[in-house]
Amino acid sequence: MHKVIIGNWKMYPTYSDAMVLTSTLKTKLEKHHKVEIVIAPPTAWLIPVVDSWKSEHKHISFAAQSIWPEDQGAYTGDVSAYMLKDIVKYALIGHSEQRKNHHETNELVNRKVISALKWRIKPVVCIGETKRVFNEHNVRDASEWKKLFQQLEMALTNVDRHHFDDIIIAYEPVWAIGTQNPATPAYVSKVINELTTELKEIFKTGVKDLKFLYGGSVGPENVAAFLKEDNIDGLLVGGYSVKANDFETICRLASSL
Ligand code: PGA
Repeated sequence: MHKVIIGNWKMYPTYSDAMVLTSTLKTKLEKHHKVEIVIAPPTAWLIPVVDSWKSEHKHISFAAQSIWPEDQGAYTGDVSAYMLKDIVKYALIGHSEQRKNHHETNELVNRKVISALKWRIKPVVCIGETKRVFNEHNVRDASEWKKLFQQLEMALTNVDRHHFDDIIIAYEPVWAIGTQNPATPAYVSKVINELTTELKEIFKTGVKDLKFLYGGSVGPENVAAFLKEDNIDGLLVGGYSVKANDFETICRLASSL
C-alpha cells in the first residue's frame, strides 16, 4: 500500500500564490506516482486549483479543509460535503485549528464524518492532545490520554465498519503543530499502537482497515524516519506544503520508500 501525503495549505496562499504553487507543483509531483498525494487548498481557491490542475494522475487528489454536516440551508460561511462531493476526494475533519477557533466538538466531528461518508468523501479525522502526554519521566498524563482516545472513539461512533477502509486518522499532537518540535517517530508509533489496541476492544472488527497519518512539524528532514514506522501510513504536512521544493522532496522521499 502506498503512503499518503496530505498538503494542508491552511490559510497561507493568496489567490495568486495558490495559482503559482499549483503550476509549480503540477510539474514536480506528477512523476512521484508511488505515493498518494492530496492537496487541501483554502476553500476559496479549491475550484480554481482543481480546475487548473486537471489531474488525470490517479495518485493526486484534493481535500476540503473543512465541511459542514448539513447538505444545504441557512449556514452562512459553510460548505457541505454534498456541495463538494464531485470536487474533492477527502475532507479534513476535526483539525485542532477548527476545534480551537470554531469550537468543533467531538459530536460535530462525528456528524461531519457521517455526512462525508454519505456523499462518498473520505474523512481525514484529525485528533491530538493539547499538551505533552509524556513528561520528562515518560509518565502518561491520564486525563489528556483519555481525551485523545475520546476524540477518536466519538468520531467513529455509528460509522459502519465497512467504511473504516475509507477513513484516515491523522494523529497530530497539538504541541507539535507549527512548532518545529515534532513528536518522535517512536512516540507516534507507540501512540498509534495504543489507540488501535483500544479501538479493537470497542469495535472488535474493521480497525485494521483504518489508516493512520502523523502531522505536526513534518519536513523534508524527518519524513523518512516517520514513514519507516510500519503503522504510520502517511503524513499531514502544513507549513512545508506551500514550499514547492520542500513539498516535492517530501513526496519524492515518500514515493521512493
Ligand atoms: P505543520 O502543520 O506541518 O505546519 O506543523 C500540520 C497541520 O496542522 O496539519
